[in-house]
Amino acid sequence: MRTFLHPQDLGDLQAALQEARAIKADRYAHANLGKNRTALLIFFNNSLRTRLSTQKAAMNLGMNVIVLDVNQGAWRLETERGVVMDGDKSEHLLEAVPVMGSYCDVIGVRTFARFESRDDDYSERILRQFIDHSGRPVFSMESATVHPLQAFADLITIEEHKRKARPKVVLTWAPHPKALPQAVPNSFAEWALAAGYDLTIAHPEGYELCEDFTRGAHITHDQDEALRGADFVYAKNWAAYSADHYGQVLSRDMSWTVSRDKMALTHDAAFMHCLPVRRGMIVTDDVIESPRSLVIPEAANREISATVVLKRMLQAL
Ligand code: CP
Repeated sequence: MRTFLHPQDLGDLQAALQEARAIKADRYAHANLGKNRTALLIFFNNSLRTRLSTQKAAMNLGMNVIVLDVNQGAWRLETERGVVMDGDKSEHLLEAVPVMGSYCDVIGVRTFARFESRDDDYSERILRQFIDHSGRPVFSMESATVHPLQAFADLITIEEHKRKARPKVVLTWAPHPKALPQAVPNSFAEWALAAGYDLTIAHPEGYELCEDFTRGAHITHDQDEALRGADFVYAKNWAAYSADHYGQVLSRDMSWTVSRDKMALTHDAAFMHCLPVRRGMIVTDDVIESPRSLVIPEAANREISATVVLKRMLQAL
């Protein structure tokens, strides 16, 4: 596997989920696979879970790990071609990427949407520069449009907790004070549909996601209708995707906060969120602290999803 952005990069998804179960049962089973191999994890944006879980996954496989926070301690990087670099950016990404590739065997990149241009974000321009110029296998650790390590961990979690073969899974928009990327909801929808779940997406008008990720889902503006009979409720905020309002916050409607009353509409659903989460905005304290909240096991499964992905990349070197 040379790149990891989408479920199809894993091939047979059910086989990958089976492999995740085996890794979870013995996460050190391949502790020699990464001997004398180095993972370089590059962060253009902040992280807690991805930073820790991906390092842990690499260590499970016996790899060495280098972590670089591009904006703290490295030269500030120019990403546009054809500019006169007379500002505060000392190095161009086009030199920095192959240099970084020369020090490692696999590269993970976190680089969020900038909301300056939808075309630019949806071309995954920065991640593509790593894929094209590093000479190394590259995996997204949340890039402009996708967060596949999170979505894979979400599926592992649903498989562990589902009470019927094809659960009703609801992805619901919830309010947030800032504009957030669509990467998590895009990937969650894409992976849930790839797994064959009965997926409903609920959001206020104006928050339609890119159809490339949601085709096959039931989409509604009525959150209560969506929640009825749900087995899993996945809450997330995202900013508008539409060309006219790309990256904008169109609503802070607090009636979309996932509360105990909202969860009472469901089929005793489990609550999920990728974290970090704003309590009182996305979800109430009683829901996230309830026995039906899966946010902690979901985060813990990030180690498992990353171990499977790094293992596949090491086996293909
Ligand atoms: N869910 C997730 O990716 O968390 P971090 O942003 O803390 O890595």
